[in-house]
Amino acid sequence: MKKILVTGAVGQIGSELTMYLRKKHGNENVVAVGHRTKPSEKLLNSGAFEFLKIEDINEVENAIKKYNIGTIYHLAAILSAIGEKNPQLAWDVNINGLYNILEVSRKYKCSLFVPSSIGAFGPSTPADNTPQDTIQRPTSMYGVTKVAGELLCDYYYTRFNVDTRGVRYPGLISYETLPGGGTTDYSVEIFYEAIKNKQYTCFLKHDTMLDMMYMPDAIKGCVDLMEADPAKLKHRNAFNLTAVNFTPEQIATEIKKHIPEFQIDYDVDPIRQAIADSWPNHMDDSAAREEWGWNPKYDLELMTKDMLEKLEIKLKK
Ligand code: NAD
Ligand code: SER
Repeated sequence: MKKILVTGAVGQIGSELTMYLRKKHGNENVVAVGHRTKPSEKLLNSGAFEFLKIEDINEVENAIKKYNIGTIYHLAAILSAIGEKNPQLAWDVNINGLYNILEVSRKYKCSLFVPSSIGAFGPSTPADNTPQDTIQRPTSMYGVTKVAGELLCDYYYTRFNVDTRGVRYPGLISYETLPGGGTTDYSVEIFYEAIKNKQYTCFLKHDTMLDMMYMPDAIKGCVDLMEADPAKLKHRNAFNLTAVNFTPEQIATEIKKHIPEFQIDYDVDPIRQAIADSWPNHMDDSAAREEWGWNPKYDLELMTKDMLEKLEIKLKK
């Protein structure tokens, strides 16, 4: 079998997706690619691991040839909050890195998964039931790179017949690896602080409504899309994908059902608040449901219970 390569494998999604794919396809068939950050022992010891800089096409091409890669999950990126602090870096990694990945996918006939984001929308996008195909005028550099990335992936499919597929993820919540510097990171931090200190100071306003998803649904979503019958896909890239939507106040109320002493207060960061205010309240993900059977399992209640249980165990170790 041709092997699978995961870029950004040490990150929030990659650390879990790599292990999921190794379990499904065999450790020897999934290559993890990181960049500077030390990988966990689990990731390092369960299969091949390479460090590379995604902006360097020679390094990318060498890895594709060395491991005979047939499928790439491209997760290496700069997220929204860090991207706003360093827009030049966000452009370089998110656009030049993606271009390299698309070029090697074309040359070596690889299938390719590339995630976009709720960040691909902006203030002029309809915020409620945001349609699959709608206005996309984002105001962050992260969003600009996500829209350009969606278009590039569609272009490589129609122009070069590269099997590109992708989703627009909402904010992702997980306990394995901390998020990498996004606007939705509060929704993970709140769990750590609730367990450790029974108190959390949130950087977004109490009523900021955003789409969110628990990591097991996010992992299942990308793998299901990559395995979907191509004949049924009317879209290819950038499927709206969501599971729940809530505000900081609502998730705090849900956590209080398990930790009654938990308190939340607010110290709003204007940069991340402006980004969050420009994103949808709730996306319409019916295209994903109709074209490849998207059906998330975790709602707010189920996710909060599982997240607290799993994180309690992790933090006791
Ligand atoms: P993350 O920040 O946790 O991980 C990204 C990884 O990219 C990091 O481990 C980093 O080492 C690597 N990286 C950064 N610069 C690199 C470079 N120059 N060369 C090679 N690798 C480099 O991000 P994540 O949350 O796992 O997100 C993965 C993808 O999913 C991104 O495209 C992101 O935009 C998208 N996404 C994530 C979320 C979320 O909530 N986590 C939501 C929507 C979309
Ligand atoms: N969680 C991501 C971010 O906030 C959404 O793309 O950047």
